[in-house]
Amino acid sequence: MASRSEWPFLVGNGMQTVWWEAGTLCLVDQRKLPHIEETVRCCTVADVADAIRTMVVRGAPAIGVTAAYGMALAAQNSEAEDRAGLLDALSQAKAVLDTTRPTAVNLRWATTRMFDLALADAAVETLPERLLTEAHRIRGEDEAMCHAIGDHGAALLAEGSRILTHCNAGGLATAGYGTALAPIKTAHSSGKRLHVLVDETRPFLQGARLTAWELKDAGIPQTLITDSMAGYFMRRGDVDCVIVGADRIVANGDVANKIGTYSLAVLANAHGIPFYVAAPTSTIDLSLATGDHIPIEHRSADEVTQLAGQQLAPDGVQAAHPAFDVTPHELVTAIITEYGVIRPPFGEQLARLRQTPAQDSPVMTDAPHAEPAEA
Ligand code: MRU
Repeated sequence: MASRSEWPFLVGNGMQTVWWEAGTLCLVDQRKLPHIEETVRCCTVADVADAIRTMVVRGAPAIGVTAAYGMALAAQNSEAEDRAGLLDALSQAKAVLDTTRPTAVNLRWATTRMFDLALADAAVETLPERLLTEAHRIRGEDEAMCHAIGDHGAALLAEGSRILTHCNAGGLATAGYGTALAPIKTAHSSGKRLHVLVDETRPFLQGARLTAWELKDAGIPQTLITDSMAGYFMRRGDVDCVIVGADRIVANGDVANKIGTYSLAVLANAHGIPFYVAAPTSTIDLSLATGDHIPIEHRSADEVTQLAGQQLAPDGVQAAHPAFDVTPHELVTAIITEYGVIRPPFGEQLARLRQTPAQDSPVMTDAPHAEPAEA
């Protein structure tokens, strides 16, 4: 493993999610956390695609950053002698990376940004280096966006708030710091007393393994629950709000996120509990009108019938594994972005946020298009 002192973006326990070292892409193997801290090194596009597909790296922003480095690797490894050959290699790499996981739009957002840069750049000799610089920039921007989400979202959390979260939308799911966990981390750092209910998030257990690990490392009080306990705690009055991340937010504000998010939103709505979605603008997809059009990834049924390689269900039993669901915008109280907090109706505000022109530093905490959160 790399020395931790070389890792600038730390997510917890002195680790980071995605980093570049000595010409290779390094990923912390999230399948093995929290008990084993291991690094996977990717030298080729195929390595990167495999790491995304097999969940070495997961979480919408983190797979976007990873895919950007995959494009940089494609350019670095290409033996093409002219511009057409290099563009062809990049186009093939993009096609491979784009099909690894279908639901999180950040992945395609990142590969498209990298490919567009290549299309606009005539200097074939310097393009590999420029693409690597762009991947570093995407990674840096992602971390900055998470901190801005933290600043805006923290204002929604009163002293003593009890927050329920699902899956892992923390530093491990991003370049660092997280989306849904960012407001919690920022509010905690500012001295607010908080308590987090962590859904274990069957079947991949991102909550039990990753969120619990990150919160523990940050010293934030938490209680781990199984997914089916959420309603019990809401009915008792033990939950002040829900904050989740997102894999895709479409034009009308419908949100795709980890399977189980929709059930939580319905429960929160039934109990009059605010349901917040925290996501950077790279998660917004204006090309789809409603959530009905979002491609939902279906993963292996083995991930349901087995736990840590151990068979739970009777042999041969049929199981289903949609990895994401869609929460209709009517159930979303507000969306926390790097520009500020937006409330319904979402359509026009999302369009304005997504169309904000890319800049060297796209994070504007003054929120030109969004209302800053109220304390
Ligand atoms: O299957 P995963 O672990 O990649 O799913 C992750 C989620 O659903 C997250 O909530 C989402 O990607 C937002 S991460 C900041």
